[in-house]
Amino acid sequence: MNNQDKIQKLIDLRIEAKLGGGEKRIEAQHAKGKLTARERIDLLLDEGSFEEYDMFMTHRCDNFGMEKTKFLGDGVVTGQGTIDGRIVYIYAQDFTVFGGSLSETYALKICKVMDMAMKIGAPVIGINDSGGARIQEGVTALAGYSEIFQRNIMASGVIPQISAIFGPCAGGAVYSPALTDFIIMSKNTSYMFVTGPKVVKTVTGEIVTDEQLGGASVHGAKSGVSHFIAEDEHEGISLIRKLMSYIPQNNLEDAPIAFCDDSIDRLDDSLNELIPDNPNKPYDVKNVVHSIVDYNEFLEVQRNYAQNIVTGFARFNGTSVGIVANQPNYLAGVLDINASRKAARFVRFCDAFNIPIITLVDVPGFLPGTTQEYGGIITHGAKLLFAYGEATVPKVTVILRKAYGGAYCVMASKHLRGDINYSWPSGEIAVMGPKGAIEVLRSKKISAIEDEAERAAYITQAEEDYKEKFANPYKAAEYGYIDDVIEPRNTRFRIIRALQTLSTKKATNPPKKHSNLPL
Ligand code: HXC
Repeated sequence: MNNQDKIQKLIDLRIEAKLGGGEKRIEAQHAKGKLTARERIDLLLDEGSFEEYDMFMTHRCDNFGMEKTKFLGDGVVTGQGTIDGRIVYIYAQDFTVFGGSLSETYALKICKVMDMAMKIGAPVIGINDSGGARIQEGVTALAGYSEIFQRNIMASGVIPQISAIFGPCAGGAVYSPALTDFIIMSKNTSYMFVTGPKVVKTVTGEIVTDEQLGGASVHGAKSGVSHFIAEDEHEGISLIRKLMSYIPQNNLEDAPIAFCDDSIDRLDDSLNELIPDNPNKPYDVKNVVHSIVDYNEFLEVQRNYAQNIVTGFARFNGTSVGIVANQPNYLAGVLDINASRKAARFVRFCDAFNIPIITLVDVPGFLPGTTQEYGGIITHGAKLLFAYGEATVPKVTVILRKAYGGAYCVMASKHLRGDINYSWPSGEIAVMGPKGAIEVLRSKKISAIEDEAERAAYITQAEEDYKEKFANPYKAAEYGYIDDVIEPRNTRFRIIRALQTLSTKKATNPPKKHSNLPL
């Protein structure tokens, strides 16, 4: 072979590798409404930035006649590239090769990009579309998964890890995405479950489809496993790019500062009118969020799950922040098990990656009842409390209306190292709401009043007196638990100024191996 032949051979091998499992299987992939691994990578990364690794790697299995069937790259495309000029490491499972199933060498390829990402300090993005462990390989495939899990764990809190699920993701394979920071699922073409419908039917007798068991809608709304649901893969990929814009490369860096010409002191008079006079009337806290953040842009995380708390990313004067807000429009914004878990995980992500946390409070307390108590609301609520108390990033809190009971303490109060705590004049800070408080404090007196009208008048007066005392932020302000009572329309400016002040904040926790978070 002369040099030209050698170069030609390289070109031919590259063409072969790029075909994955071949034209027919690519067509089948498209027919299912799915893109190929390479098409996904091309869409995700900046044009021309992809540098592939290990394109010529093949499996080493000789069970079941496998030695006769080898595909260059062995079912996963791996490498590095950039998103908006920032380096990321990537792997995309190629369903056209053995159903994207994971072999020993396939796992080695993924581990290599994860190791590089840790070395460089760059995010890892995994695109999942796989039939799970390659059955012909047996234990070496299981070993491969375990090696990936271990790396996911070591990378957690060091570099951001993002998983897209654009096809099957079943069995133990689900645990790698579950160990990452964010999961994005595409509607109708993706599913995740530990055991599939067939096993479910055999073991429990339950008859379910893939979609009912582990489709995007299930994990977006019921289980909370998925953080984003995309209409299709294109939307999923642009969501990843957007998400990346809010987060840093690693835990030693800050998120990129975006250009901002949205005025820092623009007033929104509608916020002064937003809180209804009737304290039991709901309103949409997302109106507050949209109003105060740069360009009204908010990337909501887990939009359809535990809607009584809103979490997501936004910016103030270009600085990326995490927003946590009770949602009076859904279950009156009460804290329950799911809301506590959702917000706790989000707060911990922000804290791990130096993203300041803005907390908007309107919470009537924790949800009472046997369902919640039997489900362990004590432990789950403690997660959120723990997450806020542990967080050392800048924390700015605005009480919009109710901050009752334990929920007052939990929601980034001064006592959990809230840095700057504001309240709107509509703030109500008390151990509980007026109705419950009067029932407890005045029950004997109330039952002693025989005349119904007289009793009602007594209750109304007692509630009014209670509200007069507690349904305002000034008692808390008197103690310094609230730094200032602010006009709602001025909230954007006050938060921006608070964040500027806190930009040099340094806070640490005592040295320890790790905390014992109430799991
Ligand atoms: C080897 C596999 C495979 C696997 C699919 N293929 N899964 N090969 N190991 N795990 C092959 C098929 O044989 C087929 O090859 C090709 O990929 C495409 O698969 P189809 O079945 O034709 O595709 P489709 O109808 O779309 O169904 C996709 C599927 C199904 C739902 C993923 O293939 C399936 O149920 N696969 C097995 C899933 C599974 O049980 N995996 C193990 C999970 S346990 P040919 O050549 O015929 O076209 C696990 C343990 C991990 O993963 C533990 C980690 C700790």
